[in-house]
Amino acid sequence: MKGKLITFEGSEGSGKSTQIELAQCYLEAKGLDVLFLREPGGVVISEEIRNILLDTATVGMSDECETLLYMAARAQLVEEVIIPALKDGKVILCDRFLDSTVAYQGYGNGVKIQEIKKIGAFATQGYKPDLTFLFDLDVHEGLARINRPKDRIENRAIEYHNRVKKGYLAIAKLEPSRVKVINSKKSKDEIQSVVKKHLNRLLNLKA
Ligand code: TMP
Repeated sequence: MKGKLITFEGSEGSGKSTQIELAQCYLEAKGLDVLFLREPGGVVISEEIRNILLDTATVGMSDECETLLYMAARAQLVEEVIIPALKDGKVILCDRFLDSTVAYQGYGNGVKIQEIKKIGAFATQGYKPDLTFLFDLDVHEGLARINRPKDRIENRAIEYHNRVKKGYLAIAKLEPSRVKVINSKKSKDEIQSVVKKHLNRLLNLKA
């Protein structure tokens, strides 16, 4: 396995999309073969599952169903794109991965974390990120940054989003060598330089 899987996590409006774009430009300029993916989505089947999950017209979905649909979208993306790309030596930048399910469905909805990890190992075939950036921001501030109609998950109560944020920080505490917490209140340039530092270390790049 020659490639690397780098994931970007965070609660709503935490600024991860901007940083993923900057990271992609940076790594491509260094001559690396970079692939950007998002979750849920990235391939036809997973994008269809995404529509069901995020559509505000979807009502009454059980916590179990929601968890399994996120996992199903992930399973397809892993098998169809992530494993082949890793074998090809690509650097994958993935907007969300299994940590999102632990934070949103686990800490947010109250689904047992152990169950999520078990189903997660099946869905990912045991593949884990080499590096994860967790963009951390005040929940109110993050939600206020969303300037389009909110989706089914974003529409949830502030208490839900606070549990998600707390969950993310718990994940980072458990795995500090993989998960790097980034303070999203810092400037775009300051954040980018921290991101670059970790990318350089992982990929043995010169600054
Ligand atoms: P996005 O807004 O970053 O594109 O992500 C889609 C939404 O889905 C976002 O509100 C977070 C949520 N989500 C989960 O609840 N569980 C998951 O496993 C993933 C990947 C995303």
